[in-house]
Amino acid sequence: MKPTSLSCIRCGRSYPLESLDRACGVCERDGVAANLGVVYDESASPDRDALPAAPRTLWRFADTLPLEAGQAISLGEGMTPLLPIASPWCEALFVKDETRNPTWSFKDRLASVAVSWAVSAGAGVIATSSSGNAGAAAASYAARAGLPCVVLTFKGAAGPMVEQIRAAGAMVLECAEKEDRWHILSRAVEKFGWFPTSPFFGPTAGSNSIGIEGYKTLAYEIAEGLDWCVPDWCVLPVCYGDALFGLWKGFDEMRRWGWTGGMPRLVAAEVSGSLSSALSTDDPMPPAVDRDAGSVATSIDIPRSTAQALIALRRTDGIAVALDDAAILGARETLARGAGLFVEASSAAAFAAIERLGVAGTIRRGDTVVAIATASGLKDVGAAPSAPVPSVKADLDDLRRALGEHYGFDV
Ligand SMILES: Cc1ncc(COP(=O)(O)O)c(C=O)c1O
Ligand SMILES: [Zn+2]
Repeated sequence: MKPTSLSCIRCGRSYPLESLDRACGVCERDGVAANLGVVYDESASPDRDALPAAPRTLWRFADTLPLEAGQAISLGEGMTPLLPIASPWCEALFVKDETRNPTWSFKDRLASVAVSWAVSAGAGVIATSSSGNAGAAAASYAARAGLPCVVLTFKGAAGPMVEQIRAAGAMVLECAEKEDRWHILSRAVEKFGWFPTSPFFGPTAGSNSIGIEGYKTLAYEIAEGLDWCVPDWCVLPVCYGDALFGLWKGFDEMRRWGWTGGMPRLVAAEVSGSLSSALSTDDPMPPAVDRDAGSVATSIDIPRSTAQALIALRRTDGIAVALDDAAILGARETLARGAGLFVEASSAAAFAAIERLGVAGTIRRGDTVVAIATASGLKDVGAAPSAPVPSVKADLDDLRRALGEHYGFDV
């Protein structure tokens, strides 16, 4: 489909396609940071039976995206497995395993579409305020496109994701205050014409609207994997709600186009409680909820989510579940031991949310549930409690001793 314009996801006000660098001015006057969404010429709606088998990437769905497959900056993103796993809470639990993406997180869907657009629009520099998964994806796709990438981060951010960003040749700079990243970026976007893939002003409305289109493919792949049935629930960890909103948009399109017949209830697994508390009100903006200590789920550890996340939840009769470290780490261990899937702590929050809703009887035994495993466990190994590996001598008696002593395993 051909993109024709942008429109406010809250009030519907129309904007030209070039307005990617702002939130809705009308909603801003109401104190709401509302993102803009891509509007297409839908005179001929895409046909699910005409979906090509190739490429085996999310660009198979190019008919529903703002660019053609031939324009894609691709590293082979999307088309990830939908794995059935056992669950005490429901008979049909599937994991959409996004750890298999090229940079080991679902952010590749956003980065591939956003950077492809940047290239086709002639942008010279990719910029992001994320030094996490979104930054790693932006840096890698910028490298693939041969474009420089500037990553503004804050003091104290470190770990495998920063290494991944630097390995891709991106220029990482640190700001003393978290908020300064947005001040610098919004000025650089305005003055130098840099192309931002992440939020770059605050309070944030969300990430680049073109990039968010990439997340619609999660919904298409889930529906196709379930033989064009929609699950009862889709559960995912949420920060600014880009993927949550993209998921809603994808399911909404499929329903309008006659690809599917329903809409799943979306569940946001969060750590601050920002969305949970907003859902008990009619407020359009989620509040900032400050906590004394940080969360083990660093990728989703922000005090305030976005209006777009709230809209996606309200439109799907959705739920937000706030989770603590113990629940998240417990779910991470259960998933790794029970299903062989090692995910980032933030991703494990989705599984902790399913447990909470299963115990409460909200998710019922007969329900079909899809959990999105957003990133690989190797992205934040620091979050997993680790003990030294016991040693063993080169003889079978000592092997027996070591297994028995340390693991309670009898040979
Ligand atoms: C592993 C992981 N899961 C979930 C999220 C939430 O992303 P969103 O901003 O789309 O809500 C992030 C965001 O950084 C992430 O890195
Ligand atoms: Zn608006």
